[in-house]
Amino acid sequence: MTALITMPENQMRDKFPNAPFRARHDLSGHPLFALPRLIELARSMDRDRIEYCSGDVEPNQDPSTVPGIDLSIEETIRRIEDCQAWMVIKNVEHDPEYQQFLKSCLADVARAAGPDAESLEDFQGFIFVSSANSTTPFHVDAEQNVLLQIRGDKYLHVFENEDRDLVSEEDLEISPSKHRNQEYRAEFERRAEVFEMAEGDAVFLPYMWPHWVRTGERYTVSIAVTWKTPSVKRLNKIRFMNATLRKLGMPQRAPGSVPVLDGIKVAAYDAARFVIEPLRRSERSRRLVRQVLFGRKANYYYTESQ
Ligand SMILES: [Fe+2]
Repeated sequence: MTALITMPENQMRDKFPNAPFRARHDLSGHPLFALPRLIELARSMDRDRIEYCSGDVEPNQDPSTVPGIDLSIEETIRRIEDCQAWMVIKNVEHDPEYQQFLKSCLADVARAAGPDAESLEDFQGFIFVSSANSTTPFHVDAEQNVLLQIRGDKYLHVFENEDRDLVSEEDLEISPSKHRNQEYRAEFERRAEVFEMAEGDAVFLPYMWPHWVRTGERYTVSIAVTWKTPSVKRLNKIRFMNATLRKLGMPQRAPGSVPVLDGIKVAAYDAARFVIEPLRRSERSRRLVRQVLFGRKANYYYTESQ
């Protein structure tokens, strides 16, 4: 089968999965990314899988002042050329066609990673539809991913953060009540590696490397093909428990500092998840679980009326 994504052999050997690098794909013009198909996809998704707002924001955007878009989801996609919007359709793996597509992409990455690499699990797909000159504020993602630029130009600013000078360990902790946006300062920019992306370009983004994005002069469509390895899943569990314990007044040290405690946190997380997971099957119950456990803010990105 022809590969959808080409991950360069030398970069896979030298950088994967610990540093970002360029890759290529062969998907421009793929029917799954045409606007009418994306409208159909958006219509079929639960409302909490779609987040959209104005793209006219700053890398250091205060989440409470993000301007909204006074259009329906469908109208926003239809008018993406001129409505200055930013949209993400989350978890597109719930649609069987996109699921198939994601599986093929993952198979390409896994093949390039080789038999000795960690397994790529829990794959998810996030499709971004943005007007020209739109900004995705500074944030981190708790997974590994390949961003595929399907249409238009994008400038992806990526930052190494091993010393935690840009985003602290506390800010890397995971809680649904936290907004994704992180504090960004202009002086960070000298540490940025900027990937200019056009149709056919892809970038591998390591786990929790901070980044912000600006689109070019045309509207853009991209997909983040994401996955978690067993070690990423473990780190996420510890960071989730650290956020929860901090909220209870018991701040914790970074993952890896006290291995015994890390093990206890992972076990506690697994036990809680076992109870909660069956309650998260519908949009209504997910909303309720988020609200009960993490407060109203956990549903920050959408309201019932949208
Ligand atoms: Fe991201």
